[in-house]
Amino acid sequence: MKFDRYSKTLLAWDGSWTYEDLNIFLAGPSLTTPGVNMDFRGVPDEADRLNVIAYLRTLADSPVPLP
Ligand code: HEM
Repeated sequence: MKFDRYSKTLLAWDGSWTYEDLNIFLAGPSLTTPGVNMDFRGVPDEADRLNVIAYLRTLADSPVPLP
């Protein structure tokens, strides 16, 4: 599959996203991951981020074990 509408930053992302990667990215996408197109200020509160990540995990076909 080709995602040509993604930023160079995300296209250059190598490997799978870990929960830690998601936690950093969601804290403030353009601050923690310069160059991304996600025009969203992020989720500054860590407890909120953990809830978002836990929710995303429920959507996975085969959820990766939590750290
Ligand atoms: C808490 C809410 C959100 C979560 C959990 C989230 C999650 C993510 C993740 C994990 C990615 C990178 C992986 C992928 O592209 O599949 C991503 C990319 C992106 N998201 Fe979000 N997102 C959220 C809110 C938003 C909002 C509100 C917008 C629109 C204003 C948005 C627009 C985008 C765009 C445009 C990209 C591609 C960025 C790039 O190529 O640099 N996201 N999002």
